[in-house]
Amino acid sequence: MPGPSRSRRSTPPALTLPALAGTGVVLRAFRDDDVETVREASRDPLIPDITTVPRNADRRGALAYIARQHRRLRSGTGYSFAIADAADRAIGQIGLWPAGDDPGRASIGYWIVESARGNGYASAALRALSTWAWSLQSLERLELFVEPWNTGSWKAAEAAGFEREGLLRSWRVIRSERRDLFVYSRIRAPGESKDDSAHRPGA
Ligand SMILES: CC(C)(COP(=O)(O)OP(=O)(O)OC[C@H]1O[C@@H](n2cnc3c(N)ncnc32)[C@H](O)[C@@H]1OP(=O)(O)O)[C@@H](O)C(=O)NCCC(=O)NCCS
Repeated sequence: MPGPSRSRRSTPPALTLPALAGTGVVLRAFRDDDVETVREASRDPLIPDITTVPRNADRRGALAYIARQHRRLRSGTGYSFAIADAADRAIGQIGLWPAGDDPGRASIGYWIVESARGNGYASAALRALSTWAWSLQSLERLELFVEPWNTGSWKAAEAAGFEREGLLRSWRVIRSERRDLFVYSRIRAPGESKDDSAHRPGA
C-alpha cells in the first residue's frame, strides 16, 4: 500500500490553543491589545536575544510578533500562549514546541515582563502548561534549557517539577557566543492523565 504523500507528511496539521488556568494566571491566545506587553519585552536586555521578540519594537513590530504566534499554531509548529494575570492583563509568553523529529518530546520557552517578575507567574505558567501537555497523547518528555546564571528561570522550572539533568556545554549561540546551558526535563509519570478538562478555566 502506498504511504502518505510527501506533502501530507511534511505539513503538520493546524493546532488548537486551549485556555488554561493556573494559580493566579491564565494561559490564552495573544490578542492585539497585548501589544504594550510585547513592547515592554522588546526593551528587556535578554528577551530579544533568546526569542523572536524584536528589540525595541514599535507598535507595528509588536503586532507582527503577535501575528507570528497565531501563525505558529496554524502551521502546526507549536503552541504559543500569552500568560495573563488574574485581571487578564498579558504579562508574558510561554510556548510548547514539539520536536520535529520525535513526537514524544517537546521543549518549553517563556518570558515574563520585568514589571511583573517575582510574583510566581513563570512557575505557575510552567506548571499549568506542563500539566496540560500530558493531554497530548504522544508526549512523554518535556525539556527546557537555561543559562546557569539565570536563577529565576531554573528555580521556576524546579518549582514546576522539572529536574536538572546536567550542563550542556557550548550548546547554543546567545549574543554571538556559544553558551553552556542547563537541561531540565519532566517525564510523564505512569498513569499521568491524558484528559485535559481539569485544567481549563472554569473547569
Ligand atoms: C526567568 C523569568 C521567566 C522568571 O519569571 P518570574 O515570574 O519572575 O519567576 P517566579 O516569580 O515564578 O520565580 C521563580 C523562582 O525564582 C526566584 N527568582 C525569580 N527571579 C529571580 C532572580 N532574578 N534571582 C534569583 N531568584 C529569582 C523566585 O524567588 C522563585 O523562587 P522560589 O520558587 O524559591 O520562590 C523572568 O525573569 C524572565 O522572563 N527573564 C527574562 C527571560 C528569561 O530568562 N526567560 C527564560 C529563559 S530560559
